[in-house]
Formats: sequence, C-alpha cells, structure tokens
Amino acid sequence: MKRITILGATGSIGGSTADVLLRHADAFQVHALVGHRNHVRMLEMAHALQPERVVMTDSDAAAALKGHLPQGVKLGDSMDDALAAATDSSVDIVLAAMVGAVGLPAALAAVNAGKRVALANKECLVTAGRLFMQAAKKSGAQVIPVDSEHAAVHQCLAGHDSGSIRQVILTASGGPFRDRDPATMEDITPEEAVAHPNWDMGAKISVDSATMMNKALELIEARWLFDLEPEKLSAIIHPQSIMHSMVEYTDGSVVAQLAEPDMRGPIAYALQMHPRLASGIPFLNLAAHGQLTFQSVDVARFPAMRLVAAVLQGGDSLAIALNAANETANQAFRERRLGFMDIVRVVERVLESSEDVSVQSLDEVWSRDRESRSLAKSFIQTFGG
Ligand SMILES: NC(=O)c1ccc[n+]([C@@H]2O[C@H](COP(=O)([O-])OP(=O)(O)OC[C@H]3O[C@@H](n4cnc5c(N)ncnc54)[C@H](OP(=O)(O)O)[C@@H]3O)[C@@H](O)[C@H]2O)c1
Repeated sequence: MKRITILGATGSIGGSTADVLLRHADAFQVHALVGHRNHVRMLEMAHALQPERVVMTDSDAAAALKGHLPQGVKLGDSMDDALAAATDSSVDIVLAAMVGAVGLPAALAAVNAGKRVALANKECLVTAGRLFMQAAKKSGAQVIPVDSEHAAVHQCLAGHDSGSIRQVILTASGGPFRDRDPATMEDITPEEAVAHPNWDMGAKISVDSATMMNKALELIEARWLFDLEPEKLSAIIHPQSIMHSMVEYTDGSVVAQLAEPDMRGPIAYALQMHPRLASGIPFLNLAAHGQLTFQSVDVARFPAMRLVAAVLQGGDSLAIALNAANETANQAFRERRLGFMDIVRVVERVLESSEDVSVQSLDEVWSRDRESRSLAKSFIQTFGG
C-alpha cells in the first residue's frame, strides 16, 4: 500500500485524484487531505477517502469541521500542519495541487523529505525552480509532473538520451479566445474566461489559459523539470487538446503523447508509472475525432507569450516577478477590478520594474515575490481597480 497526502485536496485536481484513488483502494491509502477554505467539499472528500488526517490551512474552515469528520480523523488548522502532513515519515507520495506560490513551502518540504512528489502546482517551479530541483537532487525525491503537457514530455523522454533532444514542443489549446475578434478582447468577462472549451479546471488556471499565461508558466516549468536550455522550448496551438506535447530529436523524429483531455490520465501516471494504472479516462478514438490541427501562437493576441521569451532568457528574479504579478492581476480580474487584457499589461509593467538577477535563497524568493505583488497592486490601481 502506498500512502499519500493530497495538498489542495478540495480543488479540481484534488477531485480528479480522489476519483483515481477510489479505483485503486487496494493500492493506495490516504494519510492526509489538505484544503484551505472549502470545508463543505473537504467533508465529502474525508468521507469518501477516509484519511487519517485533515488539514484546513484556514483556521475558521477547520473550526467548521470540528465534530463532523469521520471518527478518529485528526484535524489540523494551519500551514504548519500542512507541512507536517506532507513530510510525515509514513507518507510515500505527495500530490501537490494547491494553487499559486502559496503551495511552495509544503511541496518543497515534501521534496526535502525525499517523497515522490506528483506536482500539479506549477507556480512552485516558476517561482523557485532552480532551488526546488536542486533540493530534489539532494534528497533523492522524484518530481513527477501532473500538468498534462509535462506528463506528456516525461513520457516522450522516457528511454531517450537527453543529448539528442532538439526541441520540446508544448501544445496549447489556445483557450476560449483563440478565434475571438481582437477588437472585443478588452470586454471579456470572468464568466467567459473561466469557460474553457476542453478542460474543466479551477478558476485561476482557467483564466491563465485564456490569457495564455498558463503556457508561459508551463514553458518556465518545463525548463526546470527537464533541465532544458530555453532555446529548446517552444509552444504550438492545438485546439483539440488531444496531443499533449511532443519531443523532437536530432534525427528528425518527433515523439508525441496523445490521450483524451482528462486530468485523471496524468494524475494516474504520476501516482504510478509502471505498471500503468487504470485512470477512468475514455480510450482515444482518433477516427471519431477525425482531425488534429495545429497553428503557431499569435503573440499579438496573446502578449504573455512574448513576455515569457525574455523571462526564459533572464534570471530567476524575472520568473518570480512574472508569477507574482500574474497571480495578483488574475485575482483582480476575477474580482472585476481589472480588465482582461490588463492582466498581461500589469505583468509587463512589473517585469519592466524588476531587476534581472539569479536568486540563491528562499528568503530572496519571498522578498522578491512580495515586492512584485505590491508593485502589481499599485499598477492595478492605475488601471482603475
Ligand atoms: N485543474 C487542472 O486541470 C490543472 C491542470 C494542470 C495543472 N493544474 C495546477 O494545479 C494547481 C491546482 O489547480 P486546480 O485547478 O485544482 O485549482 P483549484 O480548483 O482552484 O483548487 C486549488 C486548491 O488550492 C487550495 N488553496 C487555495 N488557496 C490556498 C491557500 N492560500 N493556502 C492553501 N491552499 C490553498 C484550495 O483550497 P480551498 O478550495 O479549500 O480554499 C484548493 O484545494 C494549480 O497550480 C494549477 O495550475 C491544474
């Protein structure tokens, strides 16, 4: 039996993970479920998965669960309790799916404790990729991506020599506004932006997909996960989200991974690669799909993809700034304090005001993160929020 802690258990990835685990109750046992505020969802998850521990990092949400959890379940109410759940000596796998850089301390603690970390929380690697992967090397922790594109690349790289990689090509659906009249892009509402055509995801990543900031974050994530020079990273639009990414080798061969767009696939792969786990996703019927199409990314429509090129070439401080500014602007848009196209404008302004240096310590990561959030807030005010 493998023992697992799920960070971000109450979210979209947490729900898909529960679905996979319930198909394999004989192979996995849940040590802890960690959520933030959604105690109603946590109660459902706790009854379904019967963990030993539940943590709500918001203490009011934890208080709301008192007396309602299944008998014997321990209840924690802080980020320290989340860290303890991620590092408990009995735990084999930590599924890291909190949203945002706030998930970094618990995911990094799991890495430092040498766990197998199934990583959905891409903002960890964008914010502190160098330190995160150095820590994994030191502790021997395995970091297995849950992001579907990176799970695809992981599979396309298996059994190949890294010196023969010519290019890693991440596919992108292009989100809901791939074909929208550019003249109306300023008027996009949060409801339109969270309605992704192919994937059912949390609100923040859905908006990131709509601006294509998600692909920008993923390019930075891929750089650290696979230790690749930025020149070897690119993205292509593939509206059907069937081909999840590709690796091109120096002999001209391209290896791709295909599956129906359903996060249970990459989650099952990250939980156990060999032998493969039944994930519950429908089997792919290519004849029924008929066509898979591709087009290049239009950086005029999606300026986030122009910004990321400079960030990939620059020091760690730029990636920290990009992520912090994006988290702040994305939230302001969802709260109707900022226009859709202003999200990336705010990120660009913050990048223009940021130093371009490499970052060697977590303290520095957090101080730059705070500084960039505060800069982003001041720019959001000038944009009218
Ligand atoms: N959804 C997808 O298909 C998908 C695909 C690839 C990668 N990812 C990545 O996976 C991560 C999770 O995405 P998601 O779509 O599952 O997001 P989500 O549905 O919004 O869930 C986010 C989770 O993080 C928790 N959380 C939020 N704020 C927190 C805080 N301040 N402290 C601690 N926990 C906090 C939430 O708790 P409460 O709800 O209890 O407040 C929830 O459990 C993101 O990094 C995303 O980019 C997601």
